[in-house]
Formats: sequence, C-alpha cells, structure tokens
Amino acid sequence: MSNIKAGIIGTGGISVHHTNGYKRVPGVEVVACCDIDEAKVKAYAEKHNIPRWYTDCREMMEKEELDVVSVTTWNSAHKDCTITALRGGAHVLCEKPMAMNAAEAEEMLAVSKETGKLLQVGFVRRFGSDVEAFNDFRDAGMLGDIYYAKATYLRRSGCPGGWFGDKEYSGGGPLIDLGVHVIDLVRYLAGCPKPVSAYGATYNNLGKDRASGSEQAWSSLDDTGYKYNIEDFATALIRFDNGLTLSVEASFNLNVKRDTGNVSIYGTKGGVNMSPFEIYTDMGGRFVNVSPAQNVDFDFVQIFNAEMKGFIDTVRGEQPCKAPAEDGVELMKILDAVYESARTGHEALIK
Ligand SMILES: NC(=O)c1ccc[n+]([C@@H]2O[C@H](COP(=O)([O-])OP(=O)(O)OC[C@H]3O[C@@H](n4cnc5c(N)ncnc54)[C@H](O)[C@@H]3O)[C@@H](O)[C@H]2O)c1
Repeated sequence: MSNIKAGIIGTGGISVHHTNGYKRVPGVEVVACCDIDEAKVKAYAEKHNIPRWYTDCREMMEKEELDVVSVTTWNSAHKDCTITALRGGAHVLCEKPMAMNAAEAEEMLAVSKETGKLLQVGFVRRFGSDVEAFNDFRDAGMLGDIYYAKATYLRRSGCPGGWFGDKEYSGGGPLIDLGVHVIDLVRYLAGCPKPVSAYGATYNNLGKDRASGSEQAWSSLDDTGYKYNIEDFATALIRFDNGLTLSVEASFNLNVKRDTGNVSIYGTKGGVNMSPFEIYTDMGGRFVNVSPAQNVDFDFVQIFNAEMKGFIDTVRGEQPCKAPAEDGVELMKILDAVYESARTGHEALIK
C-alpha cells in the first residue's frame, strides 16, 4: 500500500495531533473528517485543508475509500465509531481509553479480528524516547527483575471540563482519563504481564466547584450543560501474574502542592524514574544516579508524531503493532476492577 488515505472521526483537541501526525508521514493524505458538530467539522476541514467533511461517520465510511481512520471522539462514542470504521474497511487508531469498559473493548477487538483490520489503541506514551532509553537499560540487565512500580498523575485543579466530568460520556474521571496512561506505561515497561486483581478507592470530595473556582483551573465547568458526576481522585494497588504490584494515584482535583506526573519502576538491580528520566543502581560498590547525557524526557508532540508514524508503518507491514487492541482490553479490565473495588470496598479479581 503506497498511498494511504486517512480519515478523522471527532475533530476536537487531540485530533489535531493525529491530523498533523498523518501529514508528516510520506504517502499519507487526510482526505475526510467527521464530527457531529457541523460548524466545528466544517471549520476544521477548512483549517487543515481536508477536502471533505461529514457529520455522520457511517456516511463517511460509505462514501470514502479510507485505508486508516483515527477515532478521536469522546469516550462513549469510541466503540460505535471504531466498529463503523472497521466494518467500513479501514484500519483504526482509537484514542485512549479504548472504551467505556472491558465489555465494549472486547466487542471492538472481536470486530477487528472478524474484519481482519488492525485496531491500535492510543497508548501514546509507548512511543516516547524515555521508553526507548528504559528498554535499553532493562535489556542491558541494569534493572534485574522488576517487582514494584508507582504511577502518579496528579492535578491540583485539572478537570478539562465539559464531557470529561460527565460519566455518561467519559466513563469516569482521572482514573480512566489520566491513570490509563501511566498504568499502561508501567504494564508496557514490565513486559505486559496479565493483571490479576485490583484494590482501589475513589473520592469526590472537592468536585465541580473546586474545578471551576481555582486560579489554576483548566476550564470552567459551569457553562457546558454537562453533569459533573465523576471521581476527582482515585488510588489503587494492582497485582500482576508475574508478581509485579503497581501503586497508582490519579486526580483532577486534590490538595497537592503542584501537578505531578511520574512513573517509578523498581527492580532487583536498579530503579528508574521516568520523569525526569533517571536510573538508580549500584556501581563500584556505590549507589549511583545514572542519567543519559542526552535528554530523553517525553515530549508531547514528538510522541504523537511517533505514534502516527508507527501506526502507518504497522499498516504497511513494516513493524508489529506497538499498542494492540488486546492491550486495550487488559487495561479496561484493570480500570473496571478498580472502580468495582472502590464500590464494594474489597479487592476485585481480574479474569
Ligand atoms: N492521548 C492523549 O494524550 C489524549 C489527550 C487528550 C485526549 N485524549 C482522548 O482523545 C479523545 C478526544 O478528546 P478531546 O480532548 O479531543 O475531546 P474534544 O471534546 O475536544 O473532542 C471530541 C470531539 O468528538 C466529537 N464527537 C463525539 N461523538 C461523535 C461521533 N459519534 N461522531 C463524530 N464526532 C463525535 C465531539 O463533537 C467533539 O468535537 C478522548 O477519548 C480523550 O480521552 C487523548
């Protein structure tokens, strides 16, 4: 496949990184876009020089001959839009979280298998240069066996607003929106072990007023018409079948001094801090902090460009898929289990 025709479903904030990412890959052109908001999709098509626009993705898939489609809608539309695009003959890159829950994700995976079309999940952190550096150190044996990880993604006052706060559209709060990135990153770095259980708690103590009233608020939630009914903080301990345990914390609203996002991984020979990237290990009888001389910290634009290029390379048969739908399903099982445990107060088993 030399010339690849791409389409976008959902022309909001993150879709711009998909559109720009496609345009940077030689032999790929973005020929159509779709959004249920007509004014928005029209303006988007004009701004990004996309020849055709639609307000219904079924119509787009019928009229266009698309090789690849990005699904960048709000979470509750991921399943239907992805299935429509797969059945319409396209390979799909669906943003994270893959779906609202594991049952939806499994349905999407089944259609990908049935149609023989690739379904990649938007686990963009897998494409960072920090991940490449981590793999080099791990493969050189500097970490030993990895058995514990800590993943933190905390915002003091950072609900993006609108549908992100409304469970009907988002499926949940910071756990499904932010936690998903760092939980997947840990799982990926640890070699994708199978999750076996989760023990979690969620809170909504600060809520909507905090999100809209703070100086550092990401956006006002007052003028959207959406409900605010998600957790604003989640914490969990997740166990994997290789013995790894992961402690995770994610917030939109929390009385934390400043916003932080980090993953730390601990092995029998060394530990890694991802942001900023540092390795702690024993050398010459001393405990040392080793950091690559070259900056490998993740960069938002770089990882999206790498993700889009990786997706196209996989479609062209040039590399295996780095973020397959199977991993999206495993992640949704973890998130479901954390929410279930938070509801029941007991550990939830994952099958
Ligand atoms: N990978 C990342 O780092 C990252 C960052 C931000 C957002 N995201 C994910 O990307 C997705 C979109 O987030 P966003 O911030 O761009 O949201 P957004 O609100 O800016 O855009 C979503 C768009 O989807 C459209 N839409 C909803 N249902 C549709 C349907 N059935 N058909 C066509 N269009 C439809 C909406 O009208 C809206 O324009 C979410 O799943 C979010 O979790 C990922």
